[in-house]
Amino acid sequence: MMKHLNPGGDPWAPDAVEALLEGHLQHWVDHGYGTWVFREPRSGAFVGRAGLRSVDLGESPEVELFYGVASDRWRRGYATEMANEIVRVALDHMGLDGLVAFTLPTNIASRRVLEKCGFWSDGEITHAGLRHLLYRCDQVAGSISAVDSLAAPK
Ligand SMILES: CC(C)(COP(=O)(O)OP(=O)(O)OC[C@H]1O[C@@H](n2cnc3c(N)ncnc32)[C@H](O)[C@@H]1OP(=O)(O)O)[C@@H](O)C(=O)NCCC(=O)NCCS
Repeated sequence: MMKHLNPGGDPWAPDAVEALLEGHLQHWVDHGYGTWVFREPRSGAFVGRAGLRSVDLGESPEVELFYGVASDRWRRGYATEMANEIVRVALDHMGLDGLVAFTLPTNIASRRVLEKCGFWSDGEITHAGLRHLLYRCDQVAGSISAVDSLAAPK
């Protein structure tokens, strides 16, 4: 997992984890949205974490979707489920105009999650010194308006 989250691929040191968690909590205070932890309904077992964070890609502040699933629970549809739900909350309930996401080109699973959640490719950016693919989304995947616009006769 770490090769996709940390340029060196190493686990974060304990003080870096502490700073990360404090940053997540402060983000909620500053913006009113942030990171959610996801658990299996029956067992309560940790599945992953995902959320929204404010990012500045050079023009104006935007909101980024991010996610990560515990490696022993990969390929069960959890990332897609978490991401879809967050997109729905962001666009339908929070009233955001759109979201961005970015991922390493080699992260095929993450790219697939974004495609399945209705994101489209919008070029490349440099993040943490590495080339990333940029994605954008402005409607909930499979929403009635999206289906209508595809089905409507020209
Ligand atoms: C990326 C990640 C979140 C995907 O989580 P997941 O719960 O396994 O994803 P899903 O089960 O929802 O699968 C989504 C799609 O990706 C595909 N996929 C999952 N793992 C894959 C892999 N290793 N290689 C290729 N495709 C993969 C699935 O088959 C599915 O596509 P499909 O419906 O067309 O078959 C998970 O691999 C992860 O946590 N990686 C490390 C953290 C990370 O990279 N986060 C994103 C940073 S941008």
